[in-house]
Amino acid sequence: MSSMSCSHPEGVRSGGPSGVLRLPRTVVVGAGQRFAVASLAAGLGRRVLICTDPRLAASEDLRSLVESLESAGLAVRVFGETQAELPVPGIVACVDGLRGEDIDVVVGFGGGSCMDMAKVVSILLTHGGRPSDYYGEFAVPGPTLPVIALPTTAGTGSEATAIAVVSDPELGMKMGISSPHIIPEIAVCDPELTYTCPPSLTAATGADTFVHLVESFTAITREPTSALASERILIGKNTLTDSFALDGIRRVGRSLVTAYKDPENAEARGDMMLAALYGGVALSNAGTAAAHAIQYPVGALTHTPHGVGVGLLLPYVVRHNFDVVRPQLATIAEALGRDVRGLDERSAAVAGVDAIDEVIAAIELPPTLEALGVREQDLPEIARLSLNSKRLVDNNPVPLDVEAVTSIVEAAFAGDRTIR
Ligand SMILES: NC(=O)c1ccc[n+]([C@@H]2O[C@H](COP(=O)([O-])OP(=O)(O)OC[C@H]3O[C@@H](n4cnc5c(N)ncnc54)[C@H](O)[C@@H]3O)[C@@H](O)[C@H]2O)c1
Repeated sequence: MSSMSCSHPEGVRSGGPSGVLRLPRTVVVGAGQRFAVASLAAGLGRRVLICTDPRLAASEDLRSLVESLESAGLAVRVFGETQAELPVPGIVACVDGLRGEDIDVVVGFGGGSCMDMAKVVSILLTHGGRPSDYYGEFAVPGPTLPVIALPTTAGTGSEATAIAVVSDPELGMKMGISSPHIIPEIAVCDPELTYTCPPSLTAATGADTFVHLVESFTAITREPTSALASERILIGKNTLTDSFALDGIRRVGRSLVTAYKDPENAEARGDMMLAALYGGVALSNAGTAAAHAIQYPVGALTHTPHGVGVGLLLPYVVRHNFDVVRPQLATIAEALGRDVRGLDERSAAVAGVDAIDEVIAAIELPPTLEALGVREQDLPEIARLSLNSKRLVDNNPVPLDVEAVTSIVEAAFAGDRTIR
């Protein structure tokens, strides 16, 4: 035993790289790679369930996916009724309808809603019960049926995450299931599947990706104890996820606006698909923070897309956190193409904030909570409810209480972009 480990019996070290990385077993990226799904699925079993939504169930892409699976000798069952934002009754109806059928592999084909549907269905088919039995962290007791995630939006990164988000009408809120057991076995990221996303969807989902990347890169840093990987899903900013986050931010900076304006631009769509995957890796291991915590009550109140809400909030959140994340913001400035040579740390960090503002403005998100439909009298309730997302609040680099969140939402309501 080295003298190092004797002097640190709990396994705590300071300095040097540290991190946790939980990933799909196989990740395949590239234009046309959706046609790899058939042979990959055949390596996992013979009976395949595809979870998708009504729009995609009617698409040519779904038809050719089913055809390729059947040509590989697989039996295919399609559930095409996945609802956006994943209400629990729809998940239960899917699983109840499968009673008595044997399934070996579950494919999630679509945006985050369909990929999360595949994850939750695979939990229920394996372990029984209802989605609520698995809310929170580490509640899934063991491995599940393998999931193949095939995203059609470049946004949530669910193809790489240990997370599924459902809408629980009984609780009146969105709930998360987080477990390493639900990371897809295989992620197949084919940017051609995103060409049909209209500009508003590209903006909302691209903003979601951008916020995953920036919030993970600016999250709290925790002491690397030996219990970190077993006690937490979201461990905070760390060396391993930083590489993904930074490369993802670069790709968003050079390609989100192009994908928004020119939907069939292969290079931009490819960059955004990769950025979304990297955002998933970063968010699933490091974790997001205040913008995500605040969006949940905002989304419930205004019925606006998650990505629009988090994207709108990001400029205000980075301003609130400014003093403790200056070095990170300076690095983000460079990643977004700003020349920060010769600038002092504060000026370089301000350039980072400006560059973040520019990305959000270029995809024409509403600039304030007021423009999103929030009323001034809703702000205290939004601040109070934001604190319910404890694991996200705890992941913010600056401690958040009701006063702090109130100051963020007041600034976001009024469009106050002062850096204090
Ligand atoms: N599991 C995670 O790690 C994670 C992370 C973030 C968000 N989420 C969840 O993901 C869900 C949101 O996912 P999303 O933003 O991808 O949207 P979505 O899956 O809800 O889809 C939104 C709409 O876009 C359509 N769509 C999808 N792909 C399309 C395409 N290629 N062309 C045209 N239309 C297309 C869908 O049919 C649907 O009508 C939410 O439930 C959110 O809570 C999950």
